[in-house]
Amino acid sequence: MRNIAILGQKARQMLPPGARVDTVVLDDVPVACGIVETPEPEFAPDQPDNESRVLVRVRAFSLNYRDKNRIFSMVFNGVEEGFYVVGSEFVAEVLAVGSKVTEFAPGDRVMGDNDYPGSNGNGAAPGIPTNHASREIQIFHKAKLLKVPEAMPDHVAAAFSIGAQTTYSMIRKLQMPDGANVLVTSAKSNTSLFAINALKNHRVNVYATSTSDRFEPKLKQMGVEQLVVVDALCPRFLEHPALGPVAKRLDGFNGVIDPYFDLHLPRVLGVMAMGGKYVTCGMYDQYLEMIGKAPLRGYKNDGALIAIMMKNLHIIGNCIGLTSDLQRAVQDFTAGSLDVAVDSVFSSGQVAEFLDRTFNARDRFGKVVYRYD
Ligand SMILES: NC(=O)c1ccc[n+]([C@@H]2O[C@H](COP(=O)([O-])OP(=O)(O)OC[C@H]3O[C@@H](n4cnc5c(N)ncnc54)[C@H](OP(=O)(O)O)[C@@H]3O)[C@@H](O)[C@H]2O)c1
Repeated sequence: MRNIAILGQKARQMLPPGARVDTVVLDDVPVACGIVETPEPEFAPDQPDNESRVLVRVRAFSLNYRDKNRIFSMVFNGVEEGFYVVGSEFVAEVLAVGSKVTEFAPGDRVMGDNDYPGSNGNGAAPGIPTNHASREIQIFHKAKLLKVPEAMPDHVAAAFSIGAQTTYSMIRKLQMPDGANVLVTSAKSNTSLFAINALKNHRVNVYATSTSDRFEPKLKQMGVEQLVVVDALCPRFLEHPALGPVAKRLDGFNGVIDPYFDLHLPRVLGVMAMGGKYVTCGMYDQYLEMIGKAPLRGYKNDGALIAIMMKNLHIIGNCIGLTSDLQRAVQDFTAGSLDVAVDSVFSSGQVAEFLDRTFNARDRFGKVVYRYD
């Protein structure tokens, strides 16, 4: 079976003759990558260990920002003879099921259910089902899978579960009333694109920030009232020549959805409304030290807690979401009320191209998918 892998120094020489090895440069770091063949796992449906488990064949998969940390860990700290199999979400076909699995049958298509923190109380590990989604044949606990509806094509299902489950959870936690003003930061990140698409189902006014205006027309079509370009040097959003006046006109944003708290949290407090709610699912600095880059210039935190206190703000953390969040997103997709931004689909051994587009392309708009031929 195939695995899309980051290769250690010596692993390249261990590949069979003719196997394609490419190099992609991520953040100035050369990364060797290719397709590695490994034996398929054995699966006996009647074995007690397998009674709640499901054997699947992955048809397509995608990566998320978090995968960069794992890729660089392989490059800098991995065993030279080893390889690291990438991928954090997938669409797969069920090949066989354990004796106590009634929810799935061979032929069904499934995606990962990243339910966190509970994993449905079934004894399966919470969170994402695998960090190696490109492993072609895999065995999962049934609690870690959700059926893909017929209306959802493979390239969407391969790019759906993390963004959808996370942003539906964030929006649920914000509990914005009708007419609220919501600011989404880093508009072009996959997480924010999911959030913006999902907010269409709520009667709120959506504003967004981004480091460029390249996709302004598309974002406006998706429902963004105003896109504001903010550069990394703007210390406080309230002092920003475009964002400050918008925030003052609106009496501040009632809700903020932010995928990178280390880029935005201290800066955004000043543009929030009294009693506003801020929710974040992550941070930018997940690997800078490992690749020898300077850590982020810290935005001044002085006064952050004072602002939080004085404005009665709610600061909410969010890690992924519940099964019910993913189910609601799937229902909305099936009903035609949730669009998914997919940028491109690669296949036929285009591993370096896939990684390059995923992590390097400034003109990427949405998820990048790799599909097995
Ligand atoms: N905890 C969870 O459950 C969970 C789930 C999903 C995601 N996340 C987190 O959400 C974040 C985004 O993930 P993603 O996969 O959506 O990322 P992504 O698509 O790779 O994000 C790329 C975007 O990030 C912004 N960006 C990148 N470098 C930047 C810089 N130096 N300064 C300012 N903005 C920069 C840019 O947005 P603009 O072009 O708009 O400026 C860029 O287009 C990560 O922190 C990730 O770990 C967490």
